[in-house]
Amino acid sequence: MLRLTGLHHVNFAVRDLGSSERFAIDFGLQVAARTEHSVFLRGAGNGAYLLRLEASDRDAFLGAAWSVADANELQRAVAEYGATNLSELAGPGGGHAVTLTDPEGLPWHLVADIAPTIAQPLRESLRINTGAAKDRRGVTQLKPPLGPPQLLKLGHIGIFIQDFARQSQWLQNVLGLLPSDVLYAGSPDHGIGGFFRLNRGAEWVDHHALAVFAMGKADCHHISFEVQDSEAQFVAHRWLSKQGWEPVWGVGRHPLGSHVFDVWRAPCGYRFETYSDTDLCTAAEPMHLHDVKHAQMDLWSNEQPDRYFK
Ligand SMILES: [Fe+2]
Repeated sequence: MLRLTGLHHVNFAVRDLGSSERFAIDFGLQVAARTEHSVFLRGAGNGAYLLRLEASDRDAFLGAAWSVADANELQRAVAEYGATNLSELAGPGGGHAVTLTDPEGLPWHLVADIAPTIAQPLRESLRINTGAAKDRRGVTQLKPPLGPPQLLKLGHIGIFIQDFARQSQWLQNVLGLLPSDVLYAGSPDHGIGGFFRLNRGAEWVDHHALAVFAMGKADCHHISFEVQDSEAQFVAHRWLSKQGWEPVWGVGRHPLGSHVFDVWRAPCGYRFETYSDTDLCTAAEPMHLHDVKHAQMDLWSNEQPDRYFK
């Protein structure tokens, strides 16, 4: 299996590049570079870019790019897993890429050698006085200004798929991802959705870098960027609402992964999410199985999941 080190960026074709760029900037991204038909957007971290938007006559998911250690790993993907031949990336930081296609037909890029950019100073995180532990003494709480949040990294992607068993095998055997939580319907061997994380051995990683939902089609469902804390999300929620963008769900907290989420609809139709305070796991964490009958989507609301998947 391949050894992924993280998610680098995601690519979308968009019909309305101007509106898509305005949304991305309100969401917290910043223009890193432009070409005649594309715009590359970065966050506040050191990733050269987290999102590439390409002008097109259709709105479409053009694949996400996973980072690998070096070009040798790219060559291994070509030799052992049938990835396309190595090509040079045109975006900021350069680098090389190969592309794999999963059993659902979705493209996944592997990238290496992209020069990082300089991370921007991160605002301080909240210090919470809880009922039992009041550690913030004589210090007033942070009051982030109304505006776009700082996006630290592209943390995970959610996808629609058709065949969970087949996709789960491919994600584990080819991409080397580990299942954190799997949802089943009826019997435990009938998985219908799941959350997969990077395998970084003893290193702590986010509960998931990929979420899959078997719902009869193959497409991107959402992309998710990490922010400093939930304060950033509530303030960003107010900011995005003030700009007139369409909320989908949040601010809420998912039971699986525990992260605080806030989901918005981009002009291209795909969902953009921020998350904070996710569970961390090492490779030693076993998979947990859950009957979808008892699954909850949000600890903080009674919203029905239907609208999240429409
Ligand atoms: Fe998510």
